[in-house]
Amino acid sequence: MPPALVAQLDAMARAKGYRSRSRAVADMVRAQLVEHRAERGNRQIVGTITLVYDHHRRGVQALLTDIQHHHPHLIISTLHVHLDRHHCLEVLAVRGRAGEVKAIADRLVATRGVKHGRLSVTTTGRELPA
Ligand code: NI
Repeated sequence: MPPALVAQLDAMARAKGYRSRSRAVADMVRAQLVEHRAERGNRQIVGTITLVYDHHRRGVQALLTDIQHHHPHLIISTLHVHLDRHHCLEVLAVRGRAGEVKAIADRLVATRGVKHGRLSVTTTGRELPA
């Protein structure tokens, strides 16, 4: 690795509170592995879908709820926060085959009226060395 890159890595690791470069690199590798594995269609993944939308926008809430009701096996739990007079934040905990989870996340995020949305994939860590 180029020395300048190592220097920036060390600075980032310190700023993030890692005790060593090695621990920082190990976490980066784990994050990449989780992401890489989530790309396989049949693998079981777990994660959250975060959505922000304007609930005054006609039909958006009904549409989002409808999509969720069609995939009850994928959605473990939901959290709804009324952010301000207009905006709602919804966080859905999801678990299932990567392909199915990604498909419902894509549909929800692409729903008209959703201002921002993303799927964040995580792991129990069972498959990852500590
Ligand atoms: Ni709300």
